[in-house]
Amino acid sequence: KGGDLPTIDPLRIVAKEMKFLTGNIRKLLGSGHPSLDRAAKYYTQAEGKHVRPLIVLLMSRATSLCPKAPQRQQATVQASAAIDTSISPLSILSDFNPSAGAETEPVLADADILPSQRRLAEITELIHTASLLHDDVIDHSVARRGAPSANLEFGNKMAVLAGDFLLGRASVALARLRHAEVIELLATVIANLVEGEFMQLKNTARDETNPRWSEDTLTYYLQKTYLKTASLISKSCRAAALLGGADAQTVDAAYSYGRNLGLAFQLVDDMLDYTRSEKELGKPAGADLELGLATAPLLFAWKTMPELGGLVGRKFANDGDVARARDLVMQSDGIQQTRALAEDYAEKAIASLSLFPDSEAKDGLVEMAVKTLQRKK
Ligand code: FPP
Ligand code: MG
Ligand code: MG
Repeated sequence: KGGDLPTIDPLRIVAKEMKFLTGNIRKLLGSGHPSLDRAAKYYTQAEGKHVRPLIVLLMSRATSLCPKAPQRQQATVQASAAIDTSISPLSILSDFNPSAGAETEPVLADADILPSQRRLAEITELIHTASLLHDDVIDHSVARRGAPSANLEFGNKMAVLAGDFLLGRASVALARLRHAEVIELLATVIANLVEGEFMQLKNTARDETNPRWSEDTLTYYLQKTYLKTASLISKSCRAAALLGGADAQTVDAAYSYGRNLGLAFQLVDDMLDYTRSEKELGKPAGADLELGLATAPLLFAWKTMPELGGLVGRKFANDGDVARARDLVMQSDGIQQTRALAEDYAEKAIASLSLFPDSEAKDGLVEMAVKTLQRKK
């Protein structure tokens, strides 16, 4: 792009909120049990991209300028209540301080991001990180965010339990928002993540005798992709708009943005798995084929290269299968087609924002869609 346009940095628009994100998350994860405390906070040490909280904060700011719903359900603001992480003498349970929920924070007149929306941003990162802890166990992954994975560092049992602990703390923080619809949305996300992972483990819809096998296989893949990645982004965008009291049209637009961005994001992720190295990604590259997974680049390649069918059928398990499948995908236009589909979704995400009044935050959301296509890790 031309150099005369000022570049928009989405991070700068919500820099103040992002600055406290990791610290606040670590406070939510405090446990009086030292090794649980360490395992739970482990993935907060390395700098993640914090894509989901960034989107939630930008969406909160962008929708603050949109029309409000008639009966505005203001979340009672208990989001920043302190937590007690001490160990009681009789048990190693640490808990949120129950009396802390009664505190309310004064709402600043000019604040366009509410404390409840800030807390929502933290909750999305907690749910995402919990899913990564479990994912790395399922995928036998040895690296995450440029460091040894939690399962390698602490073992599978502790990594799984740490993930469960994150979900528990995310649930408490969510309940404290006192907004039933938002609680329902994020609880559904947790179920969707598991459903997406199940769809991935039990790959179906690849029956080549079915005349529609190719379309059905792609539909199955996209549904799985919605559940495993786009559900969290779309429903947390919806929740951000709801917490701000936005009207129904705005809430739907926020959801549509998140859904399309989430799909674009995972398509790019599946493309990078073919095109980037472990060093560039900070996690193993080429992992999908090794795990027996057929993602978009391969599904597109398969249409013109029937040999892939046999390899997919046995999940690339024989010697040389992974290398052969990779060669075939790289010879095909599967990567280009995946990129083209990601571009379609990114465009749809941007189009979803058309009714939002112009603002820096809206520009930031547009830039997030552009950056999603450009990212290299
Ligand atoms: C990363 O995918 C994983 C996910 C997006 C979700 C995984 C979901 C579960 C393990 C279900 C359990 C969920 C919860 C909430 C505990 P990937 O393996 O393609 O990405 P990677 O390359 O970053 O590992
Ligand atoms: Mg994985
Ligand atoms: Mg996985």
